[in-house]
Amino acid sequence: MKTAVVYYSLDGNCAFVAEEVKSLFNAELIRLQTKDEKKRRGFAKYFWGGGMVFAHKKPPLKPYAFDPAAYELIVIGAPVWAGSPAPPIQTFLSESGMSGKKIALFVCHGGGKGNALGTLKNLLAGNEIIAEADFVNARKNSAEVKRQIADWVKGLQGK
Ligand SMILES: Cc1cc2nc3c(=O)[nH]c(=O)nc-3n(C[C@H](O)[C@H](O)[C@H](O)COP(=O)(O)O)c2cc1C
Repeated sequence: MKTAVVYYSLDGNCAFVAEEVKSLFNAELIRLQTKDEKKRRGFAKYFWGGGMVFAHKKPPLKPYAFDPAAYELIVIGAPVWAGSPAPPIQTFLSESGMSGKKIALFVCHGGGKGNALGTLKNLLAGNEIIAEADFVNARKNSAEVKRQIADWVKGLQGK
């Protein structure tokens, strides 16, 4: 099954999960970045990210190559910001033009996933969501999360 993993990751947790899915699935990785991506720490990071969520902003992305028609399965991964999928993923979904695709969703968070998966599903209306998962502090809990990812991917194969 030709698979793409499209994800955004500011602090590396979704990147960790995406890499792991890629290695188990032989998928193609597409990492999204915002045009103004730069290292932000502490308060500045929460102010920037949370501010975009509350203002319903969709930050412009750096150019990326993605043709949904090329894949049978598309895995989409997003960090949870203020209980929502991080806005860069919302930019991607608003411009991807996906419809009728098989999609598996994952979110990474620190213990409060809010309605991030529900919001993603709403934004992906018209597609078939075949699986969803959430991973808590993926890099810190890497051994446990690797096991969870392996189980998740096993369930995805053949769907
Ligand atoms: C702006 C911002 C808002 C966040 N809001 C939440 C939240 O509502 N709930 C939660 O559990 N974690 C929250 N976090 C933590 C991230 O979801 C968590 O660190 C996640 O693993 C980040 O993924 P990444 O490392 O791929 O960027 C937030 C982080 C940032 C930067």
